[in-house]
Amino acid sequence: MPIITTLTNAELCIEDAILLHDTPGHQVYWVGCGESGEAISCNSWLVVDQDAGFLLEPGGCDHYRGVSDKVDSVFLSSAISHLICSHQDPDVCASLPSWVSNNPGIQIVIPHLWQRFLPHYMAHPEHLIPISDRGGKLLMPDGGHLHCIPAPFLHSPGNMVVFDEASGLLFSGDIGASVFGDNTLRLCIDDWDAHCGCMLGFHQRYMGSNKAVAAFIASVRELPIRAILPQHGAIFRGEEVGKLLDWLGAIDVGVDFMFGDA
Ligand SMILES: [Fe+2]
Ligand SMILES: [Fe+2]
Repeated sequence: MPIITTLTNAELCIEDAILLHDTPGHQVYWVGCGESGEAISCNSWLVVDQDAGFLLEPGGCDHYRGVSDKVDSVFLSSAISHLICSHQDPDVCASLPSWVSNNPGIQIVIPHLWQRFLPHYMAHPEHLIPISDRGGKLLMPDGGHLHCIPAPFLHSPGNMVVFDEASGLLFSGDIGASVFGDNTLRLCIDDWDAHCGCMLGFHQRYMGSNKAVAAFIASVRELPIRAILPQHGAIFRGEEVGKLLDWLGAIDVGVDFMFGDA
């Protein structure tokens, strides 16, 4: 079974859950869905700690069956205790009603800004953990935490990244997202310069502002991050973590990209 440092694109099987981290009592899996056609490939992540399961970025309603089948292959989808959503977009949240109907007691963790909007996805989301603009943390059975770190306006005004202190993995939502022309599943970066080309247009147009980027970089730069895992495209491992933060801090995005000279 591959783990994150030795993973290669050649060995990926899109039909399977992919083990990324494995230490006693703590595993992390890719359980996302690739897609041909119009829809963009989405990464979902399963963190298993002892007997608890945390699903990050559950995905769209079109991906529910694929994600839940992958979860069931390594865990029990109905036993997942928390759905963790970086922000409100449909490619993150539209499957929430299916997950809740499968397990009415499941907790939904999402930036507080979206608390009032979740009823547009489902009638009465009962078990909600809104994350404030100061952030928050979720305790796992083994004593470690999932740290919810605000990253507002990257791209959503209510947006967070999640740092798993047990694995050193930072789940970054749309930050670091890449889009490949052929929509092939790639979790590894083979060519850094080419990869930057696959990230540039998305970050320039979707991310809020250079100031929001600078605040995010300052909040995560000192964390012991082994890898950054975005909701779309490839993972950043080892020295690629710093390269991503440097690249992000050097480009103009959002209002600075569109109106920088105004
Ligand atoms: Fe998004
Ligand atoms: Fe997204």
